[in-house]
Amino acid sequence: MGRLKDKVAVITGGASGIGESTVKLFIEEGARVAFSDQDGQRGIALSKEIKSTGSDVLFVEAKMELEDQAVSFVQRAADHFGQLDILVNNVAIRMFQTVVEASQESWDKILSVNVKSYAFCSKAAIPLMQKQGGSIINIASNNAFIAGINTVQYDTTKAAITGLTRGMARAHSEEGIRVNAVCPGPTFTPFHMQRAKKSGIKEEEFKEEFARPLMLKRPGTPEEIAACILFLASDESPFVTGSFIFADGGQTAM
Ligand SMILES: NC(=O)c1ccc[n+]([C@@H]2O[C@H](COP(=O)([O-])OP(=O)(O)OC[C@H]3O[C@@H](n4cnc5c(N)ncnc54)[C@H](O)[C@@H]3O)[C@@H](O)[C@H]2O)c1
Repeated sequence: MGRLKDKVAVITGGASGIGESTVKLFIEEGARVAFSDQDGQRGIALSKEIKSTGSDVLFVEAKMELEDQAVSFVQRAADHFGQLDILVNNVAIRMFQTVVEASQESWDKILSVNVKSYAFCSKAAIPLMQKQGGSIINIASNNAFIAGINTVQYDTTKAAITGLTRGMARAHSEEGIRVNAVCPGPTFTPFHMQRAKKSGIKEEEFKEEFARPLMLKRPGTPEEIAACILFLASDESPFVTGSFIFADGGQTAM
């Protein structure tokens, strides 16, 4: 408790999965939090749930791949809470096409959501952090380092996030801004629950299959990923920048 006391955090894609767990954990740890999502219904429901516990939270329905919406989300959060200390770039989509099947349209879409949105939110956040310093956490994936099954576009975007992380860390270190990435491995979220349902597979069977390539033989939970994000966001990691935390049940090391 209190590891983010007096901090203001913005989190993209916060209405579901890892983003939702991060919103909840950051609030538990004393932060004031703003989150965005394109899913207005889930965002409003989560925001109501949090407010009913007496915590302040700001939800903004927005599409993060659009520069004006990304920038205005970050700016609104800073205006609402009066400062900005932490940015978690979390939003992402998946596509399942080979390079032969992929089109200009699908490349534009996935690069915009998974890469450009991280750059746009950072562009808005960095000037607001320059006075007091800050921490930016980019959610990449261990697919930045190992090939997923038919996920070449997603893997490409996640590898790009590792470059963005190193580049921003170096460019802004003297302003007191740390930039790191978390690389989750298979983590069971509502997205996977829906995938299992759509393919007519029982949740337990899906999880077993999902976990087969991992040392730990079980998928991660969104809460376990949020705990790594918290470490990088907090003052417990002052010497960590330009770095990656693998939270992947040992998959990348095998
Ligand atoms: N779950 C995993 O197994 C796993 C593994 C490795 C990396 N990751 C990464 O973790 C992050 C979160 O993943 P998750 O599984 O929790 O995802 P999720 O699909 O459960 O949640 C993503 C959220 O982003 C929102 N969103 C999608 N596109 C948007 C857009 N254009 N603008 C605004 N909001 C948008 C969705 O509505 C959703 O609420 C992603 O960056 C993902 O690549 C997840």
